[in-house]
Amino acid sequence: MTTWSKSSWRNMPRIQMPDYPDQAALKAVEEQLSRYPLLVFAGEARRLRDHLAAAGRGEAFLLQGGDCAESFEQFSSDMIRDTFKVMLQMAVVLTYGAKVPVIKVGRMAGQFAKPRSANTETVDGVELPSYRGDIINDLAFTPEARIPNPDNMMRAYTQAAATLNLLRAFSTGGYADVRKVHGWTLGFTDGEKAAKYRDLAARISDTLDFMNAAGVSPETSHTLQSVEFYTSHESLLLEYEEALCRQEAETGKWLAGSGHMIWIGDRTRQPDGAHVEFASGVQNPIGLKCGPTMEADDLKKLMAKLNPENEEGRLTLIARFGAGSVGDHLPRLIKAVQEEGANVVWTCDAMHGNTIKSSSGYKTRPFESVLREVREFFSVHAAEGTVPGGVHFEMTGQDVTECTGGVRAVSDEDLSDRYHTACDPRLNASQSLELAFLVAEELTARREAAAIKAAV
Ligand code: PEP
Ligand code: CO
Repeated sequence: MTTWSKSSWRNMPRIQMPDYPDQAALKAVEEQLSRYPLLVFAGEARRLRDHLAAAGRGEAFLLQGGDCAESFEQFSSDMIRDTFKVMLQMAVVLTYGAKVPVIKVGRMAGQFAKPRSANTETVDGVELPSYRGDIINDLAFTPEARIPNPDNMMRAYTQAAATLNLLRAFSTGGYADVRKVHGWTLGFTDGEKAAKYRDLAARISDTLDFMNAAGVSPETSHTLQSVEFYTSHESLLLEYEEALCRQEAETGKWLAGSGHMIWIGDRTRQPDGAHVEFASGVQNPIGLKCGPTMEADDLKKLMAKLNPENEEGRLTLIARFGAGSVGDHLPRLIKAVQEEGANVVWTCDAMHGNTIKSSSGYKTRPFESVLREVREFFSVHAAEGTVPGGVHFEMTGQDVTECTGGVRAVSDEDLSDRYHTACDPRLNASQSLELAFLVAEELTARREAAAIKAAV
């Protein structure tokens, strides 16, 4: 066994990474980035780990969400603000349902590199290398655009730094005031179609009024006017990750300085592969995507490699099986976790197993399937007596038409109106908030059922 270093992944088989034709240019970028400031700090990553430890015990709930792929072209402060805003709205609703703190983690400020199911893409008989995310190449369908360009890493870093700067300002600068956030939600439920959620929204209003009367308000309580907001992305482009990986002087531990939490994708989770190797040596909380092909033995190996000390909050297992399939796969993985006595956080990515091609030809995800997968995830955990620790969505605060369904129904025909994603279809602001209401109802019902069971 070789010892870990920030570059030991280079000795392992790697997949889903580009071959840069200009190695000298790549080296220059890596050197430059390795002198640049880290985007996040070790203390923040440890704080997130502590929160996730609570989620693993059922004392907190994880909400992870954002773009499938961040884009250079669509980057704007409004876009960041709107996604941040809808995540806060969702968090208030989920807090009410779960009755525990909601940990907010954006797929933001670093979610640029994409694994692809095919190495090439063919359009009208022309075959070109696949688009792999803006940090690697360009979406335009030309041979030049698809050449991996290391300079894109500098642009991704700069965009991530600017995104984080804005998120940090929003988190503490008055924008996150709980009463304001809930006020936006009331705007949503005032609408004719979302009337069915008005009752829950009214109960949240009542609770805030009561707290206010009792002297707990955003004016008196720091926690009601600010939030902790964390960033995460798939740790796929390891040259970028390595350049931002640094050793902490006090503890000697290594930190992936590119984001608070990093995850390993379902395609790159080989126990002896480069991506698992890199993640195994950094102290950040790690996410691991678990799709239908994950076997119990793989999971056991991965848990041993990624969390040898069995630390709480270190490892989040992100189940993504698809609606109708959770019962076929989740139980064997829960059993593997139990057999190892492993501490994990279970969360449900209800997006990546539910992508279909619509009749109009667009890649989409039906709202109903997303909701159904979350419900199945909750019921398997209820049956197994284990803790459903959170949810993971591809979503945006913009009014896009990429997923079908929801109260402001998006139909197959509507998809072409505002289909802006560079990669997978995202829930729009209204669909995201509606989902939070439905998940909150689910959490309330399960909490009440558990309380009744405990009382008899
Ligand atoms: C993703 O989260 O964007 C992704 C590609 O997921 P998965 O690895 O689960 O397919
Ligand atoms: Co995706």
